Parts: sequence; structure tokens; C-alpha cells
Amino acid sequence: MNTYKAVIIGGGPSGHSAAVRIAQLGGRVALVERDFIGGICTNWGCTPSKAMIESAKVAKTVAESGKYGVNVGDFSVDFSSVAQRRNTVVEQTRAFVTALLKNNQVDIFQGEGELISAHSVCVKGGKLNSDGVTMQYDGSETILDTENVILATGSEPLIPSFLNKDDPSIVSSNRLISINERPESLVIIGGGVIGLEFATIFSNLGSKVTIIEFLDRVLAQMDEDISIEITRIMEENGVRVLTSTKCTGIENGVISMEDLRSGEMIKLDAPMTLVAIGRAAVLKEEMYEKAGIVFTRKGIEVDEFLRTNVPGVWAIGDATGRSILAHVGIQQGIIAAENIMRLNDERLREMDYSVIPAVIYTLPEIVGVGTIPEDYHGVTVTKVPFAVNLRAGIENYPDGFVKMWIKDNTLLAAQAIGHNVSEIMQEAANMIALKTDIQAVSEIIHAHPTYAEIIRSTLDQALGKAVDFYL
Ligand code: NAI
Repeated sequence: MNTYKAVIIGGGPSGHSAAVRIAQLGGRVALVERDFIGGICTNWGCTPSKAMIESAKVAKTVAESGKYGVNVGDFSVDFSSVAQRRNTVVEQTRAFVTALLKNNQVDIFQGEGELISAHSVCVKGGKLNSDGVTMQYDGSETILDTENVILATGSEPLIPSFLNKDDPSIVSSNRLISINERPESLVIIGGGVIGLEFATIFSNLGSKVTIIEFLDRVLAQMDEDISIEITRIMEENGVRVLTSTKCTGIENGVISMEDLRSGEMIKLDAPMTLVAIGRAAVLKEEMYEKAGIVFTRKGIEVDEFLRTNVPGVWAIGDATGRSILAHVGIQQGIIAAENIMRLNDERLREMDYSVIPAVIYTLPEIVGVGTIPEDYHGVTVTKVPFAVNLRAGIENYPDGFVKMWIKDNTLLAAQAIGHNVSEIMQEAANMIALKTDIQAVSEIIHAHPTYAEIIRSTLDQALGKAVDFYL
């Protein structure tokens, strides 16, 4: 039997990127997937959520069309058409990824991949049931011989033990993102990334949304100014945001929660509740133990080259627990592939986690990149609001700002909230990664009027030479 250069278990963004890169470098590669090609990102995450956010954005724009002199009169959201469009986008994306793999001669195996050794994987043919846990096996078993195995088995939502996950009122993010009927009301436990994105979708499509957040602000991992701004915008949009409120249980559609400020216990009727309090690596503990692979509760342990402790076994993506972001998984996949193919002879390429742009697709969007220093000695903090950006003013998107942390003329961190900021903040990420002199970037001509001009405006403000606005 022909031996593969690598067998990859898991067909999400990290797995399929690794597969394509190995194939591109001349390696024979197989990819094993028990569910749909594309993983969570394509089927239940990035793709459908962004498709629905686009519908939410259109609904919001139509609702505000009078501001632009366009009178549409009464309008309604046809939720089944929104769902249909989402499904089409998902199917097209899945078909694209499948074609990409086939075009690169990657062998795709449908079934559950089990590591027998570092050089052998057994594929038990079949498909995951809709419960997302059990498998429908077809009885076939295929043994794949390989030089390397890459584990890219992803992550799943965390459901705390005090919640009865079988309560019919609790929906998973997978089920909610696939829903075909709009819920009248939706309660979201967790004011994190998933909570805020779902609140954006359903509040703009007409559901009554309540967010319950344990900490004293939503998005506690971001700068406090971002939390304040997004809370203000969400509340203006009709979302109820309950902070310092801890969910302690859900029983038959009634949520029990504690107001952490007063200690008062409160009950809330909630026909539908999304639990979004974090995700964790999918761990196949028995399989790892048998193979001797070191893992923790967070994920499979890997070194900076994406190697596990077992020679020939690599791990990438959410399964490593290092980050639950598709773009980090893609980068890990590419690096593991290049290391397997010894692209740089014996010098392996290292994974660098220091500059990871994180985007939250609310309306408006939020981005954070770089590390805010703990010690502010010698650090300049500069914040410029979109209210002084001409393009944002013209197009009626005055909310939000860009904030930068600068030391020794280099950018350490940048955070932003504002219209389409995901498209302009890569400039900040590049500056942090390349340790660019901010003076040099501030001297580069930025097109006028553009949203990207606010990057130059913020640098100019930090350097005391802004000429196009006053604060
Ligand atoms: P998260 O960690 O972002 O937020 C969870 C929130 O739940 C926290 O604010 C926490 O304080 C709160 N919480 C915990 N227990 C609670 C309780 N008992 N009652 C009330 N609140 C409670 O987790 P989330 O939103 O589930 O997202 C999981 C991961 O998925 C994140 O790491 C995120 O990076 C990733 N993701 C990224 C996306 C993107 O890049 N746009 C989109 C969706 C997810």
C-alpha cells in the first residue's frame, strides 16, 4: 500500500489548509472528516453567522433608509428567505472547499478517524448524527499508512455542569445558526464574542434579545471603552444587557440568575436560551492516552512547531486549545505542513501567536490586535472617534473609535469599534508585527476620504501633528 506523507483528521480550516499546503509541496495527503467538509467555520460558524449578519445589516440599513433620502415605507424581514440564503452560502462555501481539496489531489475519507499509531489511522466509515456526538457507521474500515498524522479535531461549546443540556429551551450555537424560524425572544448567557454576534443577528432581524453576563461588562477581554460603546449601541438597538448577573440554572424555560451587585435571585421566562460561555477543544482522551499523546483539559499539547510529544503526530487548530480562531488554525495548518515537508530543510518554522487580529462581527464591528501593556510607563494612548472621519460622516456611521497604545514610536496594540473596521485594522496588525516606525507610516499618503484614513489620523494625533480634525 502507498504510504501517505500525512493523514489529517478533521476537515475544518486548519485541517484543509494543512492538506492543501502539503499537496502543494508535493506530499501525498489524506483528509478524514466525520461530518461536513469545512468544519464548524464553514458549516456552523464563520460562514453562516456572517451570512446572517449581512441580512441583519441590510435590515438595519433599510430601517434607517430615510436618513439617506430613500423612503421604503413599511418593510418586513422574510426569515425563511434569510435562512435559505444562509444555507446557499454555506453549501457554496462547502462545495468550494471540497473542490479545492480535490483540485489538489487530496484523498477525502468520510468517517471517524482513529489514531492507531503515529503511522497508521483507521477510518470507520460513516457520518456524524445530528446530535453532533454519536456516529452512524456504514460498517466499512480502512487503514491508512502514513509518515505523519495531523490532529485537527476542533472545538465544541462549553455547557457547564449546573445546566441540564437536555432542557428543551436550551439551544446550541450550531442549532441556533441553522434555525429556519425567527424566535420571538432569545436570551443569551454570556456577553462574549458569540453572545454579541448572535445578539446582533437576532435583534436586527426582529427578535427581542437579552444578554446575561457574569462580569461587570461585556467583552471583558477588550479595552473597557469598547465594552461601553458596544453596550450603548446594543441598548439603543433594543437589546437588554444584564451585566454582573450570573446564570445559575435553567429549568423548563425558566432561567435562575443572581444579581451579583445586590445578591438578589431573579427568575426570567425564556422560551429559547443560547449558552455562549466559551468553547473547548474536542478531546478524544482514550485515543490520546492509548497513543501516549500529552494533553490537558485545554487541548493537545504542542510545541512551537506544532509537534505533539509523539514523533510523527502533529496537532493544529482549536484542538490545541491555543486559540479558537479560524485564522490562527489556518496559520498553524500551513506551518505544520511546511514543517512536515521540511520546506526549510531541517530548520522548522515556528508558530508566532504575538499578533493575532480578533474581529467581533457586531454592527458596528470590533477589532483588537496586539497586547495592551500592563506597565504604562512611556506609553502613549491615543483615541480618535469616527465622528471626525469624513467618510464615516458622509455615510452616516459616526459611532466608534480607533484606540492605539504606542511606545518608542512603535505600535504595541490597537483596538477599534466602527463601521467595517475589520477591513482597515490589518494595517495596524502589520505595523505591530513589523515593529514599524509610526512616524514613517504617518507620512504615507492615505486616500481621502476613506475609513482607513483614521489609522493615519490616530498616528498623527499621537505625534501631535493632526491637521484634519480637532477633538
Ligand atoms: P467568550 O469567552 O468570548 O465569552 C463567554 C462569556 O460568558 C464571558 O464574558 C463570561 O464572563 C460569560 N459567562 C461565563 N459563565 C457565565 C454565567 N454562568 N452566567 C453569565 N455569564 C457567564 O466565549 P464565546 O462567546 O462562547 O466564544 C467562544 C470562542 O469562540 C471565543 O474564544 C471566540 O474567540 C471564538 N469565536 C470567534 C469568533 C470571531 O472570530 N468572530 C466568532 C465566534 C466565536
